[in-house]
Amino acid sequence: MTNSDLQIKNPTILTGIRANSELTLGNFLGALLPMVRLANTHSDKSHINIFAPDLHSIIADIDGELQPNIIRSFKYYLAAGLNMNEHIHFYRQSRVPAHSELCWILNCVASMGDLNRMTQYKDKSNGKDSVNVGIFDYPVLMAADILLYDAEYIPVGEDQFQHLELTRRIAEKFNKKYAKIFTLPAEPKKQIAFMNVDDGIRIRDLQNPEKKMSKSTKSENSKIMLSDTPEQVKKKIMSAATDSIGKINFDMFNQPGISNLLQIDALVNNIPLQDVISTWAGETHYGDLKQKVADDVATFLNDFQQRYNTISDQDVLDYLVAGEEYANKIANTKLLEAQKAFHLR
Ligand code: TYM
Repeated sequence: MTNSDLQIKNPTILTGIRANSELTLGNFLGALLPMVRLANTHSDKSHINIFAPDLHSIIADIDGELQPNIIRSFKYYLAAGLNMNEHIHFYRQSRVPAHSELCWILNCVASMGDLNRMTQYKDKSNGKDSVNVGIFDYPVLMAADILLYDAEYIPVGEDQFQHLELTRRIAEKFNKKYAKIFTLPAEPKKQIAFMNVDDGIRIRDLQNPEKKMSKSTKSENSKIMLSDTPEQVKKKIMSAATDSIGKINFDMFNQPGISNLLQIDALVNNIPLQDVISTWAGETHYGDLKQKVADDVATFLNDFQQRYNTISDQDVLDYLVAGEEYANKIANTKLLEAQKAFHLR
């Protein structure tokens, strides 16, 4: 049985979060927590790959704190309740050289037109005279991250779905033109169903809820950081921008601020969004909703921070040794298939 046969029967679930700086509640609720919940329910029958995309980190200026930030990012998964076992693999992208090698091969398959259309690239290059090639090529490296492991389910926030679609297109083209070696990751609709959420997750900026909550936003009141104290959390949520409609409704278009709060409350309490919507539908006191969400997020983060403080760097380093041995084995096998398809071997 080939590696691919094995992994189709036991679908690989894979995600990565860049460790450039401290993470926001958006990263946490959009990618990290869904991954932890999936890992805890599926790791008996699936491989769970959790990696630090450090090569993706260097598309932006880094401040010399990259190594501690990487260790911290793995601790977050453990603090969020990840129950480690032999099917869960932690690794750093740059310690598995097959990622960059496959990226180069896929560069010779991907089209400039597709990459030019990527929203993240357009956002990051908007208004700049010059941007580095890494920002442009980012999604191709992401495709390599996924395709090397035949990963089917990729818990990511809604902003990354376009990159997932691109990964599918690159894999399809490769399979058709060169050799049928790659498993296509599931399409976004199936990813959402698998994550058991109502829609793609996009946590909004608290002050400008039309935008996503982002680490790079300057205003502190716009984002909740994972190290925020309960007081900071409460202050930020109580001052979140809402609307003048005066009735609580889930409507991301007309009431994005209120809808964002409903969404956050559903995710931190792990209850269906529809239940939260029904509880609050038609209520008129925005302050009551804010108070409830502020309390829930503060308690949630406080528990998370307490668990975080019990995890040592060495715990993470031990997992990385085992995970990187596994990842290199799987990734090198797939890379060799891709090299053969291009007559490089
Ligand atoms: P990064 O670090 O930019 O984002 C990490 C994850 O956080 C999610 N996210 C959000 N989700 C909901 N609401 C928000 N406001 C919000 N902000 C961020 C992102 O969707 C993402 O899931 N390109 C990936 C890293 C990566 C990767 C991969 C992921 C590299 N290779 C392969 C999966 C598979 C990224 O966006 O990182």
